Amino acid sequence: MALKSILVVHGPNLNLLGTREPGVYGHGTLQDHLDTVRAAAARHGIAVSDIQSNSEGALVEAIHAARGVHDAMIVNAGAFTHYSWALHDALRAFDGPVIEVHLSNPTAREDFRHVSVLAGVVDGTISGLGGLGYELAVAALVSRG
Ligand code: DQA
Repeated sequence: MALKSILVVHGPNLNLLGTREPGVYGHGTLQDHLDTVRAAAARHGIAVSDIQSNSEGALVEAIHAARGVHDAMIVNAGAFTHYSWALHDALRAFDGPVIEVHLSNPTAREDFRHVSVLAGVVDGTISGLGGLGYELAVAALVSRG
């Protein structure tokens, strides 16, 4: 089935990208990364919607609302990656493919970042490649079909 629609989900503090720890996360803003996704998706005729929230509940609601509406997701859940079983369960209830993206390489950082509680319910993870990860995530979704 050809992908028609991707939801991009960003978690807490990612609204600050560009000014937040640029040595770790780079100088790209959230908008820059969304533009990357949109440009890559547009080449395949795929529509892109997005949500960023600092609230776990809002993200759970957005993932629920994606069911039957979006075909696939790209998720950078920020720190929720490491402890949100609510996001884990919400993603588990989504039928389409999900690619987890991290700008940094969490496994090369503090111990608390070494575990992703989302990893078991996503189709693949791209970490440590900065904004390129978003482009690769679209490529991965497209090639999976
Ligand atoms: C992050 C990595 C997380 O550990 C961190 O809490 C973030 C950003 C990343 O993109 O590298 O907020 O998801």
